[in-house]
Amino acid sequence: MDFVTALESLVGELEEGLRKAGGPEELEALRVDVLGRKGRLAQIISRLSDLEPEERPTAGQAANRVKEHCNALFEERRKTLLAAGEAAGLARFDPTLPGRAPWRGSLHPTTLITEEICGIFTGMGFEVASGPEVENDYYNFEALNMPPEHPARDMQDTLYITKNVLMRTHTSPVQVRAMTTRTPPLAVIAPGKVYRRDSDLTHTPMFHQIEGLMVDKDITMAHLRGTLTAFVRAVFGQRTRVRFRPSFFPFTEPSAEVDISCCLCGGKGLTQGEACRVCKGTGWVEILGCGMVDPAVFTAVGYPDEVSGFAFGLGVERVAMLKYGIGDLRMFFENDVRFLRQFA
Ligand code: DAH
Repeated sequence: MDFVTALESLVGELEEGLRKAGGPEELEALRVDVLGRKGRLAQIISRLSDLEPEERPTAGQAANRVKEHCNALFEERRKTLLAAGEAAGLARFDPTLPGRAPWRGSLHPTTLITEEICGIFTGMGFEVASGPEVENDYYNFEALNMPPEHPARDMQDTLYITKNVLMRTHTSPVQVRAMTTRTPPLAVIAPGKVYRRDSDLTHTPMFHQIEGLMVDKDITMAHLRGTLTAFVRAVFGQRTRVRFRPSFFPFTEPSAEVDISCCLCGGKGLTQGEACRVCKGTGWVEILGCGMVDPAVFTAVGYPDEVSGFAFGLGVERVAMLKYGIGDLRMFFENDVRFLRQFA
Protein backbone atom coordinates (compact mmCIF):
# COMPACT_ATOMS: atom_id res chain seq x y z
CA MET A 1 0.00 0.00 0.00
CA ASP A 2 1.46 3.37 -0.95
CA PHE A 3 2.23 5.94 1.68
CA VAL A 4 -0.79 8.24 1.25
CA THR A 5 -3.28 5.36 0.97
CA ALA A 6 -1.89 3.94 4.20
CA LEU A 7 -2.49 7.31 5.90
CA GLU A 8 -6.04 7.52 4.56
CA SER A 9 -6.98 4.04 5.66
CA LEU A 10 -5.53 4.78 9.10
CA VAL A 11 -7.88 7.75 9.44
CA GLY A 12 -10.80 5.56 8.34
CA GLU A 13 -9.95 2.91 10.95
CA LEU A 14 -9.52 5.57 13.61
CA GLU A 15 -12.97 7.05 12.93
CA GLU A 16 -14.46 3.58 13.22
CA GLY A 17 -12.54 2.91 16.49
CA LEU A 18 -13.60 6.24 18.01
CA ARG A 19 -17.26 5.52 17.36
CA LYS A 20 -16.90 2.22 19.25
CA ALA A 21 -14.87 3.60 22.22
CA GLY A 22 -17.39 3.82 25.07
CA GLY A 23 -15.22 5.20 27.88
CA PRO A 24 -11.97 6.97 28.76
CA GLU A 25 -9.97 3.70 29.11
CA GLU A 26 -10.88 2.47 25.63
CA LEU A 27 -10.17 5.92 24.24
CA GLU A 28 -6.70 5.97 25.78
CA ALA A 29 -5.89 2.47 24.48
CA LEU A 30 -6.90 3.56 21.00
CA ARG A 31 -4.79 6.71 21.26
CA VAL A 32 -1.68 4.71 22.22
CA ASP A 33 -2.34 2.26 19.36
CA VAL A 34 -2.68 4.97 16.74
CA LEU A 35 -0.68 7.98 17.91
CA GLY A 36 1.72 6.43 20.44
CA ARG A 37 5.50 6.58 20.00
CA LYS A 38 5.53 3.09 18.42
CA GLY A 39 1.93 3.42 17.16
CA ARG A 40 0.50 2.85 13.68
CA LEU A 41 1.07 6.44 12.52
CA ALA A 42 4.70 6.35 13.67
CA GLN A 43 5.17 3.09 11.75
CA ILE A 44 3.82 4.64 8.54
CA ILE A 45 6.00 7.74 8.99
CA SER A 46 9.10 5.54 9.43
CA ARG A 47 8.55 4.43 5.82
CA LEU A 48 9.28 8.03 4.57
CA SER A 49 12.94 7.12 4.10
CA ASP A 50 11.96 4.36 1.63
CA LEU A 51 10.42 6.95 -0.73
CA GLU A 52 12.18 8.67 -3.63
CA PRO A 53 13.78 11.92 -2.34
CA GLU A 54 11.51 14.11 -4.51
CA GLU A 55 8.34 12.42 -3.08
CA ARG A 56 9.37 12.94 0.55
CA PRO A 57 8.26 16.63 1.13
CA THR A 58 4.63 16.11 -0.02
CA ALA A 59 4.43 12.78 1.80
CA GLY A 60 5.83 14.40 4.99
CA GLN A 61 3.29 17.24 4.79
CA ALA A 62 0.44 14.74 4.27
CA ALA A 63 1.63 12.77 7.35
CA ASN A 64 1.62 15.96 9.46
CA ARG A 65 -1.89 16.89 8.35
CA VAL A 66 -3.13 13.41 9.19
CA LYS A 67 -1.49 13.60 12.62
CA GLU A 68 -3.21 16.90 13.42
CA HIS A 69 -6.51 15.59 12.12
CA CYS A 70 -6.23 12.47 14.29
CA ASN A 71 -5.48 14.57 17.37
CA ALA A 72 -8.53 16.71 16.67
CA LEU A 73 -10.71 13.60 16.26
CA PHE A 74 -9.53 12.27 19.64
CA GLU A 75 -10.18 15.58 21.37
CA GLU A 76 -13.68 15.81 19.96
CA ARG A 77 -14.54 12.26 21.05
CA ARG A 78 -13.06 12.86 24.51
CA LYS A 79 -15.34 15.89 25.03
CA THR A 80 -18.44 14.00 23.90
CA LEU A 81 -17.69 11.10 26.26
CA LEU A 82 -17.03 13.50 29.17
CA ALA A 83 -20.32 15.35 28.67
CA ALA A 84 -22.20 12.05 28.50
CA GLY A 85 -20.50 10.89 31.74
CA GLU A 86 -21.48 14.07 33.55
CA ALA A 87 -25.05 13.81 32.35
CA ALA A 88 -25.22 10.22 33.63
CA GLY A 89 -23.75 11.32 37.00
CA LEU A 90 -26.35 14.07 37.30
CA ALA A 91 -29.08 11.60 36.49
CA ARG A 92 -27.93 9.42 39.43
CA PHE A 93 -27.75 12.45 41.80
CA ASP A 94 -30.92 12.68 43.89
CA PRO A 95 -31.36 16.24 45.16
CA THR A 96 -34.28 15.15 47.39
CA LEU A 97 -32.02 12.97 49.61
CA PRO A 98 -31.44 14.52 53.06
CA GLY A 99 -27.96 16.01 53.46
CA ARG A 100 -25.40 14.76 55.94
CA ALA A 101 -26.02 16.86 59.03
CA PRO A 102 -22.88 18.01 60.85
CA TRP A 103 -22.78 17.10 64.58
CA ARG A 104 -23.65 20.22 66.50
CA GLY A 105 -22.27 19.20 69.89
CA SER A 106 -24.36 18.63 72.98
CA LEU A 107 -24.64 19.85 76.53
CA HIS A 108 -22.59 18.01 79.13
CA PRO A 109 -24.74 15.70 81.33
CA THR A 110 -23.72 17.78 84.38
CA THR A 111 -25.10 20.89 82.67
CA LEU A 112 -28.24 19.06 81.54
CA ILE A 113 -29.06 17.84 85.06
CA THR A 114 -28.20 21.21 86.63
CA GLU A 115 -30.55 22.95 84.19
CA GLU A 116 -33.27 20.38 84.77
CA ILE A 117 -33.07 20.66 88.56
CA CYS A 118 -32.91 24.47 88.55
CA GLY A 119 -35.91 24.48 86.20
CA ILE A 120 -37.92 22.36 88.61
CA PHE A 121 -37.15 24.67 91.54
CA THR A 122 -37.62 27.94 89.68
CA GLY A 123 -40.98 26.48 88.66
CA MET A 124 -41.77 26.28 92.37
CA GLY A 125 -40.77 29.91 92.90
CA PHE A 126 -37.10 29.54 93.84
CA GLU A 127 -34.58 32.11 92.59
CA VAL A 128 -31.13 31.04 91.26
CA ALA A 129 -28.22 32.43 93.31
CA SER A 130 -24.45 32.01 93.14
CA GLY A 131 -21.33 32.58 95.18
CA PRO A 132 -17.54 32.40 94.75
CA GLU A 133 -15.65 29.11 94.43
CA VAL A 134 -12.73 30.63 96.36
CA GLU A 135 -14.38 31.22 99.71
CA ASN A 136 -13.62 32.56 103.18
CA ASP A 137 -13.50 30.27 106.17
CA TYR A 138 -16.34 32.33 107.61
CA TYR A 139 -18.88 31.52 104.87
CA ASN A 140 -17.77 27.94 104.27
CA PHE A 141 -17.61 26.93 107.95
CA GLU A 142 -18.03 29.47 110.70
CA ALA A 143 -21.40 31.01 109.78
CA LEU A 144 -22.66 27.48 109.13
CA ASN A 145 -22.23 26.63 112.79
CA MET A 146 -18.77 25.12 112.40
CA PRO A 147 -16.44 27.27 114.54
CA PRO A 148 -12.65 26.60 114.39
CA GLU A 149 -11.76 23.20 115.87
CA HIS A 150 -15.30 21.97 115.24
CA PRO A 151 -15.02 18.22 114.56
CA ALA A 152 -17.47 18.44 111.63
CA ARG A 153 -14.80 20.27 109.61
CA ASP A 154 -13.05 16.93 109.30
CA MET A 155 -16.02 15.59 107.32
CA GLN A 156 -14.80 17.62 104.35
CA ASP A 157 -11.21 17.39 103.16
CA THR A 158 -10.58 21.06 102.53
CA LEU A 159 -8.19 22.53 99.95
CA TYR A 160 -6.75 25.62 101.67
CA ILE A 161 -5.26 28.60 99.87
CA THR A 162 -4.32 30.51 103.04
CA LYS A 163 -5.36 29.93 106.65
CA ASN A 164 -8.63 31.78 106.03
CA VAL A 165 -9.16 31.35 102.30
CA LEU A 166 -10.12 28.04 100.79
CA MET A 167 -11.82 26.31 97.85
CA ARG A 168 -15.42 25.94 98.95
CA THR A 169 -16.12 22.36 100.02
CA HIS A 170 -19.87 22.65 99.45
CA THR A 171 -22.45 25.11 98.07
CA SER A 172 -23.83 25.79 101.57
CA PRO A 173 -21.86 29.09 101.91
CA VAL A 174 -24.20 30.48 99.23
CA GLN A 175 -27.00 30.07 101.80
CA VAL A 176 -25.19 32.47 104.09
CA ARG A 177 -24.45 34.94 101.27
CA ALA A 178 -28.08 34.80 100.11
CA MET A 179 -29.38 35.52 103.61
CA THR A 180 -26.96 38.38 104.23
CA THR A 181 -28.06 40.11 101.01
CA ARG A 182 -31.81 39.43 101.22
CA THR A 183 -34.58 39.73 103.80
CA PRO A 184 -37.08 36.94 104.42
CA PRO A 185 -39.18 35.50 102.90
CA LEU A 186 -36.73 33.98 100.42
CA ALA A 187 -36.28 30.83 98.41
CA VAL A 188 -33.02 30.29 96.53
CA ILE A 189 -31.31 27.51 94.64
CA ALA A 190 -27.53 27.66 94.14
CA PRO A 191 -25.75 25.39 91.64
CA GLY A 192 -21.95 25.33 91.37
CA LYS A 193 -18.57 23.65 91.59
CA VAL A 194 -17.17 22.45 94.91
CA TYR A 195 -13.70 21.16 95.77
CA ARG A 196 -12.32 18.52 98.13
CA ARG A 197 -8.94 16.92 98.73
CA ASP A 198 -10.23 13.58 97.64
CA SER A 199 -9.61 11.49 94.53
CA ASP A 200 -10.48 7.86 93.91
CA LEU A 201 -12.99 5.76 91.95
CA THR A 202 -15.99 7.49 93.50
CA HIS A 203 -14.54 10.91 94.39
CA THR A 204 -13.13 13.68 92.22
CA PRO A 205 -11.34 16.80 93.54
CA MET A 206 -14.00 18.93 91.86
CA PHE A 207 -17.67 18.09 91.52
CA HIS A 208 -21.00 19.90 91.37
CA GLN A 209 -23.61 20.53 94.01
CA ILE A 210 -26.93 22.30 94.17
CA GLU A 211 -27.95 24.01 97.37
CA GLY A 212 -31.50 24.97 98.27
CA LEU A 213 -32.84 27.27 100.95
CA MET A 214 -36.28 28.51 101.91
CA VAL A 215 -36.89 30.93 104.78
CA ASP A 216 -40.17 32.45 105.95
CA LYS A 217 -42.41 32.50 109.02
CA ASP A 218 -43.84 29.09 109.92
CA ILE A 219 -41.77 26.98 107.52
CA THR A 220 -41.89 23.41 108.83
CA MET A 221 -40.50 19.98 108.09
CA ALA A 222 -43.72 19.33 106.14
CA HIS A 223 -42.71 22.01 103.60
CA LEU A 224 -39.31 20.38 103.33
CA ARG A 225 -40.84 16.95 102.74
CA GLY A 226 -43.39 18.21 100.23
CA THR A 227 -40.87 20.26 98.24
CA LEU A 228 -38.22 17.54 98.07
CA THR A 229 -40.70 14.77 97.27
CA ALA A 230 -42.10 16.84 94.38
CA PHE A 231 -38.55 17.50 93.18
CA VAL A 232 -37.47 13.85 93.32
CA ARG A 233 -40.58 12.69 91.46
CA ALA A 234 -40.09 15.35 88.78
CA VAL A 235 -36.55 14.06 88.11
CA PHE A 236 -36.97 10.30 88.63
CA GLY A 237 -40.65 9.74 87.83
CA GLN A 238 -43.92 10.00 89.72
CA ARG A 239 -43.77 6.42 91.02
CA THR A 240 -40.48 6.98 92.86
CA ARG A 241 -40.76 6.34 96.60
CA VAL A 242 -38.99 8.73 98.97
CA ARG A 243 -37.83 8.23 102.55
CA PHE A 244 -36.33 10.66 105.04
CA ARG A 245 -33.70 9.17 107.34
CA PRO A 246 -32.45 11.03 110.46
CA SER A 247 -28.91 12.34 110.04
CA PHE A 248 -26.59 15.09 111.23
CA PHE A 249 -25.32 18.35 109.70
CA PRO A 250 -24.00 21.22 111.83
CA PHE A 251 -26.12 23.80 109.97
CA THR A 252 -29.48 22.03 110.22
CA GLU A 253 -31.50 20.72 113.18
CA PRO A 254 -33.15 18.33 112.80
CA SER A 255 -31.25 16.93 109.80
CA ALA A 256 -32.14 14.15 107.40
CA GLU A 257 -30.83 12.29 104.41
CA VAL A 258 -33.23 11.52 101.58
CA ASP A 259 -33.28 8.12 99.92
CA ILE A 260 -35.22 7.23 96.80
CA SER A 261 -36.34 3.81 95.62
CA CYS A 262 -33.55 2.44 93.42
CA CYS A 263 -33.99 3.42 89.75
CA LEU A 264 -32.25 0.25 88.51
CA CYS A 265 -34.15 -2.49 90.40
CA GLY A 266 -37.25 -0.40 91.12
CA GLY A 267 -36.71 -0.87 94.88
CA LYS A 268 -36.74 -4.68 94.81
CA GLY A 269 -33.04 -4.91 95.65
CA LEU A 270 -32.60 -7.61 93.03
CA THR A 271 -31.62 -7.54 89.36
CA GLN A 272 -31.67 -10.89 87.52
CA GLY A 273 -31.75 -12.75 90.82
CA GLU A 274 -28.65 -11.02 92.18
CA ALA A 275 -28.21 -8.14 94.63
CA CYS A 276 -28.71 -4.91 92.63
CA ARG A 277 -25.34 -3.24 91.94
CA VAL A 278 -26.72 0.30 92.29
CA CYS A 279 -28.46 -0.01 95.70
CA LYS A 280 -26.36 -2.99 96.90
CA GLY A 281 -29.53 -4.96 97.44
CA THR A 282 -31.16 -2.49 99.82
CA GLY A 283 -33.70 -1.12 97.33
CA TRP A 284 -32.82 2.48 98.34
CA VAL A 285 -30.22 5.00 97.20
CA GLU A 286 -29.24 8.17 99.03
CA ILE A 287 -29.63 11.32 97.01
CA LEU A 288 -29.35 14.38 99.23
CA GLY A 289 -28.88 15.90 102.69
CA CYS A 290 -31.33 18.35 104.22
CA GLY A 291 -32.85 19.74 107.37
CA MET A 292 -34.38 22.70 109.18
CA VAL A 293 -31.95 25.64 109.27
CA ASP A 294 -30.18 25.66 112.64
CA PRO A 295 -31.02 28.76 114.76
CA ALA A 296 -27.26 29.38 115.09
CA VAL A 297 -27.12 30.05 111.31
CA PHE A 298 -29.99 32.57 111.56
CA THR A 299 -28.13 34.27 114.40
CA ALA A 300 -24.95 34.46 112.29
CA VAL A 301 -26.78 36.27 109.47
CA GLY A 302 -28.79 38.46 111.86
CA TYR A 303 -32.24 37.08 111.08
CA PRO A 304 -35.01 37.54 113.68
CA ASP A 305 -36.17 34.69 115.93
CA GLU A 306 -39.61 34.40 114.28
CA VAL A 307 -38.29 32.96 111.01
CA SER A 308 -37.71 29.34 110.24
CA GLY A 309 -36.53 27.58 107.13
CA PHE A 310 -35.28 24.47 105.44
CA ALA A 311 -32.13 23.76 103.45
CA PHE A 312 -30.81 20.94 101.32
CA GLY A 313 -27.77 20.05 99.28
CA LEU A 314 -27.27 17.45 96.55
CA GLY A 315 -24.52 16.17 94.29
CA VAL A 316 -25.22 16.79 90.60
CA GLU A 317 -23.01 13.98 89.24
CA ARG A 318 -24.69 11.58 91.64
CA VAL A 319 -28.15 12.52 90.39
CA ALA A 320 -26.95 12.23 86.77
CA MET A 321 -25.40 8.78 87.43
CA LEU A 322 -28.64 7.51 88.97
CA LYS A 323 -30.89 9.06 86.35
CA TYR A 324 -28.88 7.97 83.27
CA GLY A 325 -27.44 4.75 84.74
CA ILE A 326 -23.82 5.93 84.43
CA GLY A 327 -21.59 3.54 86.36
CA ASP A 328 -18.32 5.48 86.51
CA LEU A 329 -17.86 8.98 87.94
CA ARG A 330 -14.72 9.53 85.83
CA MET A 331 -16.84 9.64 82.64
CA PHE A 332 -17.97 13.13 83.64
CA PHE A 333 -14.43 14.49 83.53
CA GLU A 334 -12.76 12.60 80.66
CA ASN A 335 -14.80 14.41 77.98
CA ASP A 336 -14.79 11.42 75.65
CA VAL A 337 -17.08 12.54 72.81
CA ARG A 338 -18.45 9.00 72.41
CA PHE A 339 -19.86 9.43 75.91
CA LEU A 340 -20.88 13.07 75.58
CA ARG A 341 -22.69 12.77 72.23
CA GLN A 342 -25.18 10.33 73.78
CA PHE A 343 -26.72 13.33 75.51
CA ALA A 344 -27.35 15.26 72.28
N1 DAH B 1 -23.34 20.74 102.53
C1 DAH B 1 -23.61 19.34 102.67
C2 DAH B 1 -22.49 18.55 102.01
O1 DAH B 1 -21.78 19.05 101.26
C3 DAH B 1 -24.92 18.99 102.02
C4 DAH B 1 -26.07 19.56 102.77
C5 DAH B 1 -26.67 18.84 103.75
C6 DAH B 1 -26.52 20.83 102.48
C7 DAH B 1 -27.74 19.34 104.48
C8 DAH B 1 -27.59 21.35 103.17
C9 DAH B 1 -28.19 20.58 104.18
O2 DAH B 1 -28.07 22.57 102.93
O3 DAH B 1 -29.23 21.12 104.86
O4 DAH B 1 -22.38 17.38 102.28
